[in-house]
Order: sequence, then structure tokens, then C-alpha cells
Amino acid sequence: MKRLRCDQTPAWAALQASFEAGGKSFDLREAFAGDAERFFRFSQEAPYVFADLSKNLLDVTSEALLLDLAVQCQLEQHRDAMFAGDRINSTEQRAVMHFLLRQPALPALEQAQSAIKNTAHELSQVHATLDAMLAYAEEVRADEAITDVVNIGIGGSDLGPQMAVLALGEFATTGKRFHFVSNVDGQELAGVLAQCQPHSTLFLVASKTFTTNETMSNAHSAKRWFEAGGGRDINRHFAALTTNVVAANAFGIRSTFGFWDWVGGRYSLWSAIGLPVAIAIGAVGFRELLAGAHAMDEHFRTAALARNLPVRLGLLDVWYRNFHGFGSRSIAPYSSALRRLPAYLQQLEMESNGKRVDTDGQPLPFATAPVLWGEPGTNGQHAYFQMLHQGTSVVPIEFVAVRKAAHGLPGHHEQLLANVLAQAQALMQGKNDEGGHRHFPGNRPSTFLLLDQLTPASLGALIALQEHRVFVSGALWGINSFDQWGVELGKVLAKDIEPRLRSGDTSGLDGSTAGLLQRLR
Ligand code: F6P
Repeated sequence: MKRLRCDQTPAWAALQASFEAGGKSFDLREAFAGDAERFFRFSQEAPYVFADLSKNLLDVTSEALLLDLAVQCQLEQHRDAMFAGDRINSTEQRAVMHFLLRQPALPALEQAQSAIKNTAHELSQVHATLDAMLAYAEEVRADEAITDVVNIGIGGSDLGPQMAVLALGEFATTGKRFHFVSNVDGQELAGVLAQCQPHSTLFLVASKTFTTNETMSNAHSAKRWFEAGGGRDINRHFAALTTNVVAANAFGIRSTFGFWDWVGGRYSLWSAIGLPVAIAIGAVGFRELLAGAHAMDEHFRTAALARNLPVRLGLLDVWYRNFHGFGSRSIAPYSSALRRLPAYLQQLEMESNGKRVDTDGQPLPFATAPVLWGEPGTNGQHAYFQMLHQGTSVVPIEFVAVRKAAHGLPGHHEQLLANVLAQAQALMQGKNDEGGHRHFPGNRPSTFLLLDQLTPASLGALIALQEHRVFVSGALWGINSFDQWGVELGKVLAKDIEPRLRSGDTSGLDGSTAGLLQRLR
């Protein structure tokens, strides 16, 4: 049976009525004053993540209606279809099974009888590949002659591993440096190569398709640099992480670690694309990362909707985007180690849900993905927080904090935590100053995600939480969160323009492109 899109449900109309009747004038200060239990009512434990949702513009009635909306859109059935391996990526006729990459191996008998038997064959492939990749990671870790690991990849083949290697720096081997080259701007690769020597560098060419122009250009230049510097042993100094092993072999790489078309690029951190992370933190650490994500998968798969954190966050996203009309969400990790989290989440949210048609290709009469942006705290406080506190647009903000510091420098962590609490408090409370320059309107919403400690397991859980909340809003919006046709047109046009930059041929181009092309030559 076809699922209903959010705007086709009775709950949608009820939410609209409730928003008009009082939702839009909801006041956080009054809500706390009127309900001593609000913090407990709107906070939630999930694996490795504690979430305080109480500083959001949401009351029990609105949340109950949002939960009705989820039921009426058959969110649970859609979630179960993903976990059953159905081809929910309808425009590409693919299953969506990144969760399988973090599922523990089951003993053979149990596997045959398991409720997830649809995916048992894939699961055994996952574990065979994982074991091989982790064995390789351990070899590289033990190889003292390799001092530099250079990941060449872009989008999902860069943002996830880069974010995770930075986040887990405390757990990383000290004997190696990790570099990430994504941009086709040669300055990036040149800058990295200037720090490396061919005999002590391992290049990981990470590309799901092994056709992405930026990655191929960088990989070819790296290979030329390696050979020009006397490098001979490509097998030892290059490995490919890809679903397209044939293309990797044609490139000359024999050490390959595969994955499958049912892993979307932005969901591929858990696959062979995670190899730089595995080299950094080791096989045990990488398995902990997977286990943390799996714990969150199980929470999402089994917890009742009302106590299901990815569901509650995804519903809040719909509430803010479609009823309050908030066009963006800011993400503020109060953890320097999580400094690439906003960039990672940008791809996750906006490439998944930045869609204007539903799964039938029909234009949507409502808004979808918000703009996601942010910087680590406290840095953001000294830059754009002015706008968050006193600007004309309300931007919900998601704080991520870590209770235990990963260092022993006295005083710093208390200062950091005091700041994150103070910002959330100030945004909510505001300050009355007769409406002038020093006036803070307050009532500005925030979510507070708290990890006890930043570890491989807690990072895995945090990322899986974000993946699933994106699934929830996408499911309600009735869109396919797992394709990305919107990135194609620009790629095609760049192919046409590149030779014109050499020849100067501007025939058929619009006036602006032609004018700029002439100036650039
Ligand atoms: O162009 C967008 C995109 O396809 C992303 O979805 C993907 O993560 C990135 O490019 C890199 O793709 P690949 O891993 O195939 O090189």
C-alpha cells in the first residue's frame, strides 16, 4: 500500500490548526514556569546520547500530533522496509542498507533463522570485507615505514572519514599523519605532497563510483608524483576503496576494498571508506565505532515512537520547517574535535532531503531540507551568534557537548561547558531592555545533545542518530532521501566548459558565462 505524504494526512490539518491556535505563539519561558517536569518530559536517553529537547517550541499536544503524523505516514513501515532490505531508493531501484555495515556477524545457524534473513547473504559479505580491511589497517599501523596516509576522495568519500579521524584524534596512532585531499584545486594536493615522500606515503583512493572527476584527477596526479619521485611499488603505496573494483584495477591499483551499491556515498563511513579511520584508531576502535552505531540502529528500529530519539528529532525538524517556517538549523559542537561535524551533516541533511518532488516526481507544496550550517563553539559565539540572539530570523540551534574532557588542562572544560549552557540559556531567556540595542527577545529554540565522552562508540551512535533523523523527516515529506540527481547538471556543464577554457569557444553560451570565460582565459 502506498504511504501517505505528510500533507495528505488528517494529522497535518490538525497540526496546522493547533499551530494557528497557539503553537506559533508558544513561549518557552511560560512553558517552563508552568511545568516543573518539562525537562524530564522533553529529555531522552538513547544509546551513548542524552538529549534535552525541552528548550524547543513544542508542547505535549504538538508532539502528540506529530507522533500521529508519523503513524499516519506509516513511518514505522517505511523504517522496517529499509531494515528488511527493500528497494526504498526508488529512483535508482536500490536497497538502503548502511545499517548492515555495523550489524554484528551472526553465527551461521542463527543467521539462517534470523528475522533479517533477507540480508543474511549481504551480511556475510560485509563481514568478510570488514575483516580483510581491518587486517590491512593493522598491517599499515604496524608498518613504521609508512608515515603519511593520504585519503583522496570527495563528498561522502571524504567528509565522513575526515570528520571521524579528527574527532577520534585522542585514540589515533601517533606514528602517522593523516591528510585528506578532496578539492580539484591542485593547491590542496600540492600542499599535502610537499609534506610527503613517495617511499613513506600510502594513498587511499576513495570513490564509490571511481569515476568522480575531482578524485580521478587527484589520484592521477598523485600517481605521477609517486612515480616521478622514484616510487615503483604501486601495490604497497596505493589502495582503492570503491564499489568499482574493475575501474580501480584499470587505474593500476590491486589493493582494493569493496562495498556495495546499497551504501549511499554519504552513508559510507562504515564501509571500506572508513579505512583511514581504521588505520588511525585500529581494528578494535573501528569495531567500537560500528557497535555504537548499531546500538543506535537498534534503538531506532525498536523503541516506541514517543521514546525514539531519531523520531523525535526528525518530527521536530518537520515542525520547524513546515509550521514555524524556519529555513535553517545551526549545529554547534562544543568540542574542537568535532569541528568537521557541521560539514559532514551538511551533506547528510541537504544531499538527502534537499528535494523538490515526492517519490512520484510530483512537485511538493511544502518546504523540505533546511540549510544546515555551523562552527564549533565557542568560536561561533565570537562570529555569528550575534545574529542568533538578535537577528530577525529565528534559527533553531543544535548544541553537541561532551561531559568529560579528553585533556588534562585545568579550567578549560568547565569554561567550555559553562559557555554552552549559557548560550542555550540566553537564547531561551532573552533579556528585556526596552526593545533597544541591548534587548534580547529570547524564546529562541535549541536542542542539547550530550555525550558522556567522545569515544569511537559514542561518535558512531551520534552519527547514526543523525542519519536516522534525516530518514524520518524525508519519510514524512514523501521524498527519496537516498538519491542525489541535483548534483548531476553542474558536472555535465563543467565537462562542456573545460575544453572551451582552452579553445576560447563561447558559441551557444549565455552572455555571463561567455564574458567570464573570456576574462578567465
Ligand atoms: O556528486 C555527489 C556525489 O556523488 C556524492 O553523493 C558522493 O558522496 C560524492 O559525489 C563522491 O562520489 P564517489 O564516492 O563516487 O567519488
